[in-house]
Amino acid sequence: MTSEDDAAKRVSAAMEKRFGERMVIDPATPALEELARMAEHCSHRKWTDRPLDPGLLRLLFACALSAPSKSDLQQTDIIQVIDPSKRQAIVDTIEDMDWIMQAPVFLVFCGNNRRLRLIGRWRGKPFPNDHLDQFFNAACDAAMIMSQFIRAAEAVGLGCCPISHVRNHAAKVAELLALPDWVFPFAGLCVGYPARGNRITPRLPLEASVHADQYDETRLPELLDAYDRRRHEVQPYGKQRDPARFGTAELYGWSEDKARQYAVPERQSFGQFVRAKGFCLD
Ligand SMILES: Cc1cc2nc3c(=O)[nH]c(=O)nc-3n(C[C@H](O)[C@H](O)[C@H](O)COP(=O)(O)O)c2cc1C
Repeated sequence: MTSEDDAAKRVSAAMEKRFGERMVIDPATPALEELARMAEHCSHRKWTDRPLDPGLLRLLFACALSAPSKSDLQQTDIIQVIDPSKRQAIVDTIEDMDWIMQAPVFLVFCGNNRRLRLIGRWRGKPFPNDHLDQFFNAACDAAMIMSQFIRAAEAVGLGCCPISHVRNHAAKVAELLALPDWVFPFAGLCVGYPARGNRITPRLPLEASVHADQYDETRLPELLDAYDRRRHEVQPYGKQRDPARFGTAELYGWSEDKARQYAVPERQSFGQFVRAKGFCLD
């Protein structure tokens, strides 16, 4: 078997697990090795003790920061949290995520709309753009850079776990990291050599999230139902959220889990934090 055949099989197997769909992959498709790595993506929460070479980490930063950037504004900063007491102080703001302390490397990806404002001030220009788009652009840039970092890290055999929980107590985390006005934590990222193999988490079928010409959710209820059942078969949830409040569901699928997750208030002070950092969200 050629390496192209092998990669085509890997992509096909991963897509079947992910989307429940048998895709016929032409072994002549370019870059199948890269596609296979993307298809096999999985978040990791356990790592070996193997340390990361600082030169490799710097290369991954450079690859990540090569991602597209809205209007070439370059609105993302990455903070490597090296001091263990600082990392512990961040972890103290988060419940039940012991994998953050165990990760060989912990990063915080930040949206940065500050440089743009400083440049305007230093170049003596007005800034008649103080509205929601500033925050949104910086947040999207941070998401893209983090995503590209993960992809580069996975290409060299590393495993990552993003941590949105750094926003639970964003003001405290911002203080620990000395984030000034117009700079905010987007997500943390644990990085290390994975201690376990990849586990592919099923996603909604492509029919639910890919549309032709116009948005269409007419089949969503049946697609959701089928997805809940498929996911329950291959990767059932270990426990149900808050059965005392919601009861015990016979079929506890993804939609039940997400509905329960967001029936509890979360991160309600984040808007207040973002406004306090100087953003106008109108
Ligand atoms: C922006 C972002 C924030 C996330 N935050 C957390 C987190 O705080 N804790 C965690 O364990 N996983 C976190 N994750 C990982 C997701 O739970 C994970 O991507 C999802 O369950 C799908 O699994 P997979 O990445 O293995 O396909 C986050 C993912 C993203 C993209």
